[in-house]
Amino acid sequence: MIQIEKLRKTYRGRGRELTAVDGVDLSVREGEIFGVLGRSGAGKSTLLRCVNLLERPDEGRIEVAGRDLLALSGGELRAARQGIGMIHQHFGLLSSRTVAGNVAFPLEVMGVPRAERAARVDELLDLVGLTEHAGAYPAQISGGQKQRVGIARALAGRPKVLLSDEATSALDPETTASILALLRDLRDRLGLTVLLITHEMDVVKRICDSAAIMRDGRVVESGTVRELLLRPGSELARDLFPLPAADVRPGTTVVDVTFEGDAADRPFVSSLARTYAIDVNILGGAVEEVGGTRIGRLRIELPGDPDLNAAQLAHLREAGLTVEVHPSPGTEVAA
Ligand SMILES: Nc1ncnc2c1ncn2[C@@H]1O[C@H](COP(=O)(O)OP(=O)(O)OP(=O)(O)O)[C@@H](O)[C@H]1O
Ligand SMILES: [Mg+2]
Repeated sequence: MIQIEKLRKTYRGRGRELTAVDGVDLSVREGEIFGVLGRSGAGKSTLLRCVNLLERPDEGRIEVAGRDLLALSGGELRAARQGIGMIHQHFGLLSSRTVAGNVAFPLEVMGVPRAERAARVDELLDLVGLTEHAGAYPAQISGGQKQRVGIARALAGRPKVLLSDEATSALDPETTASILALLRDLRDRLGLTVLLITHEMDVVKRICDSAAIMRDGRVVESGTVRELLLRPGSELARDLFPLPAADVRPGTTVVDVTFEGDAADRPFVSSLARTYAIDVNILGGAVEEVGGTRIGRLRIELPGDPDLNAAQLAHLREAGLTVEVHPSPGTEVAA
């Protein structure tokens, strides 16, 4: 649905150059909710602004719904833009207009005739659950309700793609949950494809099907959330299941074991201990519900160096678990 290839955007000014997006490839499938994560300054907002062409990239290709956005001009471009809705962290509502007036605004800009406008505003307010608040002014509604206005406004052009830049980061956890539920519901009902930026792991856990992590303008990992969580060395897995720094004592093997679904219900630790008559020490772990499946990660310690534990590690792998061995102190780690 959204295909981004070799995208590059450099800001130039006052004798300095900054490449905010540095050769990004990204593929978002139709109907999925795709999360982009990364530290402040990683280039996430720039990437999103390139997707709706608020920012003109220097190089690369952006295809949305089969159309090469950078090749469009004039009316075609305006039409393509209308098919991409955007919601923001700070809702940017017009304080002098009611909720209904705010939702009507983009329709006016699009030139929707007055007679149609009222019906469309009602429809949009109903979609986001704000019918009762149609006559209220922004100052009279909560943050969550303001964001619902923002979402209604973004849907005005009947977009197929919704972009969201930290849409929930100004909201409390409960309100965040309700906005995320709304986004998922809208995705299902309207068949939207959603590309969102977030720094909240909870957003990824609750609604993202896929995710990418950006650093210094590049995508350093991307894939379905499930794939990433089960991939050894994944940053997403580390962020989603924070474990204390691994302190590997000499003569022991410290292993991170990631498991999902059925494997989560099998007692692999006791099976390991029993089969090899060893003591298995549990150093930490967590189980999370991610995209409808249970995924967990456990850090365990086995007696003996890793090369003495080959059979034990194979035992875990054969049980369908993802196994990551921490290097012992003094071992060279390949970069
Ligand atoms: N209009 C601009 N002119 C010059 N530099 C810019 C401009 N917009 C962004 N940058 C720079 O580009 C880099 C990436 O910025 P961007 O806003 O995309 O980051 P971000 O990942 O969204 O960060 P945050 O999480 O803080 O929102 C930053 O170093 C930023 O200072
Ligand atoms: Mg940003």
